[in-house]
Amino acid sequence: MPDNEYLMEHEEETTRLMLKTDERTVMQQATWAGIKPGMRVADIGCGAGVTTSYLHKMAGSEGEAVGVDISKERLDYAKKHFGGPGIKFAQRNIADSIDDLGMFDFIWVRFFLEYFRLKSFDIVKNLSRILKPGGIICLIDLDYNCLNHFGLSDRLKKTISGIMNYLEEHADFDPYAGIKLYSFLYDLDYREIEVNLAPHHLIYGELNQIDEFNWVKKVEIAVKNSGYKFDEYEGDYEEFTKEFKSFFSDPRRFTYTPIISCRGIKPSGES
Ligand SMILES: C[S@@+](CC[C@H](N)C(=O)[O-])C[C@H]1O[C@@H](n2cnc3c(N)ncnc32)[C@H](O)[C@@H]1O
Repeated sequence: MPDNEYLMEHEEETTRLMLKTDERTVMQQATWAGIKPGMRVADIGCGAGVTTSYLHKMAGSEGEAVGVDISKERLDYAKKHFGGPGIKFAQRNIADSIDDLGMFDFIWVRFFLEYFRLKSFDIVKNLSRILKPGGIICLIDLDYNCLNHFGLSDRLKKTISGIMNYLEEHADFDPYAGIKLYSFLYDLDYREIEVNLAPHHLIYGELNQIDEFNWVKKVEIAVKNSGYKFDEYEGDYEEFTKEFKSFFSDPRRFTYTPIISCRGIKPSGES
């Protein structure tokens, strides 16, 4: 995979993000983190802009929300569907400085650091520069991403863990991003750090259509973009995805992923 290419890049990524984003969950997470009316909010890796629109609702008419993403296609969608007074979108590569966007009271970074295994701490450090002293950063990511399934055949289990190892090494993907978040804020001397742990993707019984679409796309796209070689399967990737889909649609399977949220307040003395 070329550098700077988003692992999940695919023509249906806007649809996937729209379908899997739940307003109540975003509101609960942002409220827990301490978002308040009147705040200037940055949504880092905003995708299709739907999270930015919920954060904007919470920042109210006196506040402002700025969605930042590298993808022109998703930002065009975001501008068309959610753009308006108090909400704007900016195309930026987070690997570069985004200091020109000004200072923020609240920075939201959800399902983003997992795509930057080696640089995640540097990204948080850079984002800290555009957070006002006393402002809040909220980092949210998964731990053991894609790795907690009960009921897998030995061959599927071996392949899934092989794929995740491969993505760590070759695509800079971090299946264990969540567990690191607390240490990032601790090392940056953040105050009033709080951590929350909850189940994400708690899936058992009949599969609903949203989980089916999200997971089949996750597996298909990430695996296809990764370049992993399917030695365990004679029919390569097609045979693997067929077996995965059959496992995943079986109501006996049990899947969950821990989601870790971490929020903290930037100390006043930091530059
Ligand atoms: C999984 S989505 C994020 C979803 C959203 N943050 C949420 O809370 O639901 C990750 C987003 O990060 C964006 N992205 C990936 N690499 C980036 C980079 N280097 N700079 C800015 N955005 C990037 C992708 O285009 C994608 O829209």
